Amino acid sequence: MEYVENRMAQEAAKQTGNAESLVTPLNLVLLGMLLYTAYSWLRPHTPAAIPKEEPAVVFKTFTPRTLLPYNGENDMPVYLAVRGRVFDVTRGRNFYGPGGPYANFAGRDASRGLAFGSFDEEMLTKDLDGPLDTLSDLTKDQLEALQGWEERFLDKYLVVGKLVAAGEEDKAE
Ligand code: HEM
Repeated sequence: MEYVENRMAQEAAKQTGNAESLVTPLNLVLLGMLLYTAYSWLRPHTPAAIPKEEPAVVFKTFTPRTLLPYNGENDMPVYLAVRGRVFDVTRGRNFYGPGGPYANFAGRDASRGLAFGSFDEEMLTKDLDGPLDTLSDLTKDQLEALQGWEERFLDKYLVVGKLVAAGEEDKAE
């Protein structure tokens, strides 16, 4: 009888021992992860917050004349064109807005002026309804300078359209 009682006591001790050995730090961490996963699955799902609406950028086709109003002299954004790409340079208003050092380029095709490093009036397309500046007379150095500016603009500003000659709008994709 005593033997049986001893066996039972031993068994009970073993079981308690087993239960204790389950409570290890690792098991607690695993249990925590399990509970968290279950909670994640079961909790009611709230839809992701709707991002604040950004103004949609519409890629547009401009001619030198339709680009002109984007010269910073009104409430409109400030644009300029470089080799057929129209950049939104509004965040550079200090450079291109009225009184800014590069205000002459605002609303215009700035390619030639940038290539020559010149603010001269002749650098800008005179006839707003005529052909675009082909830049075919540019030297290698001027083309390189222009490309440098282009890369800077591509890095810094958004392209919002393309510049084409008046009458070519329909041909532009
Ligand atoms: C006396 C000569 C010049 C000085 C001291 C000067 C100075 C500067 C300075 C300090 C910046 C700002 C750089 C930055 O923080 O991003 C800048 C940017 C610029 N400069 Fe000049 N510059 C000069 C000549 C020119 C010329 C000749 C041209 C072209 C015709 C030119 C076109 C530009 C343009 C397009 C920018 C970039 C503005 C932007 O990031 O949108 N600069 N210049």
